[in-house]
Amino acid sequence: MIVSPNTSVMPISASVNDAGHLVLGGCDTVKLAEEFGTPLYLIDEATIVASIAACSAGLSSYRNSRILYAGKAFLCTAMCRLIAKHGLGLDVVSEGELYTAIQADFPGQLLFLHGNNKSEREIEMALSYGQVRIVVDNSSELELIAATAKRLGKTVSIMLRLIPGVTPDTHQHTQTGQSDSKFGIPLDELDSMIEQALRHKDVLKLLGLHAHIGSYILDLKPFVESVNVLADTYAKVKDAFALELPDLDVGGGLGVAYTEDSKPISLFEWAQAMAEHTTSAFGERHLKLPNLFVEPGRSIVGTAGVTIYRVGHCKQVSGSRYIAVDGGMADNPRPITYQARYTAAVANRMHAPACAQPTTLVGRFCESGDIIVKDANLSADTGDLIAVFATGAYHYSQASNYNRTGRPACLLVNNGVAEVIIERESNSDLTRLDRIPDRLKR
Ligand code: LLP
Repeated sequence: MIVSPNTSVMPISASVNDAGHLVLGGCDTVKLAEEFGTPLYLIDEATIVASIAACSAGLSSYRNSRILYAGKAFLCTAMCRLIAKHGLGLDVVSEGELYTAIQADFPGQLLFLHGNNKSEREIEMALSYGQVRIVVDNSSELELIAATAKRLGKTVSIMLRLIPGVTPDTHQHTQTGQSDSKFGIPLDELDSMIEQALRHKDVLKLLGLHAHIGSYILDLKPFVESVNVLADTYAKVKDAFALELPDLDVGGGLGVAYTEDSKPISLFEWAQAMAEHTTSAFGERHLKLPNLFVEPGRSIVGTAGVTIYRVGHCKQVSGSRYIAVDGGMADNPRPITYQARYTAAVANRMHAPACAQPTTLVGRFCESGDIIVKDANLSADTGDLIAVFATGAYHYSQASNYNRTGRPACLLVNNGVAEVIIERESNSDLTRLDRIPDRLKR
């Protein structure tokens, strides 16, 4: 049986001990909260490893494939080391993500630099690190990459990002494959982009095409549609340029379970479908099978993450009981940004019965929209610990210092050991970059 952790809300290592405490990675979350404070992000290594295994098993029928983890979901140097240890490549989209990978000695040939507005500094950093592949978004960027490569006396492997014209059923903010997307090259401009790339063939090595249609997609259909568009395009490129591109990057975008009623297809099934459909779509068009890259982010790390909060004050307001915790929209901006729904539990009393009265789990930030779970129905009171599940992807990476709160610490838990992989930001971290102009000094 291949376990795909993206389909269950809790990490695969989750259990409850005799004291009724939530245990993750063999660690009692109540003890972790006491030792490291709250809010606290916990990342379950076993869930990440099982996700990688599920994705690899799905791809196993395909002769030449590789998983590129989408670092935007959650990245730090320890995460780079963990995915490198399991043979994954890494998709980075900024100077900071690239720098993080470099600090972790991530192999350059397994780094793919994405983004719709790469700066000269980012391009230079990628070229200087060596063998980083660049996924080109537009024509002026292509010119800048070629000019930078010439200036530095380097050659660079590139892929071109296509707009496949596929609109998945997901929040509008996370659709990226529709025809008016800000990401990628319109299909009818691809030929001139290829001509442009070929004009710079002394420095640019065009290896293939890429499409990414969006994020938090629960069904297979739009992924299959996108592979069809890519296969059609490879056939057209072959006809027009006598060029069989060796590589194909089909992107990521698979959803995970945030609540018991969300039912994403499994990571195994998704990877298998990408492999099988690429094989058939390219076979039907008499094309050589390209090396296949997939770019999952959320489905690798999403359900590995759990946030632990401490309940502060509770109050009754017109029929609803508000339970306020010590975090909220700064460590989890997804409810306010995408109306995302979550599952919560009382981590120190996991067997506590659900509260009959409507309860709302709210954060501590100065905005009425700072609601973590609307119908939480938790019997929790001041001092209790609350676990919010499936907070591994796009939580730390989108966290802010709103209201001048430090970002929580992040621990990797595995086999009864918890290790800090990102330290908690302190008050002095918050003022570290502040400067007082002389005229305001006392
Ligand atoms: N590849 C590319 C080029 C991407 O832009 C993305 C995500 C991925 C791969 C990974 O997609 P995933 O497998 O994680 O769905 N902040 C939003 C999600 C934005 C996703 C951006 N791109 C959220 O919290 O839902």
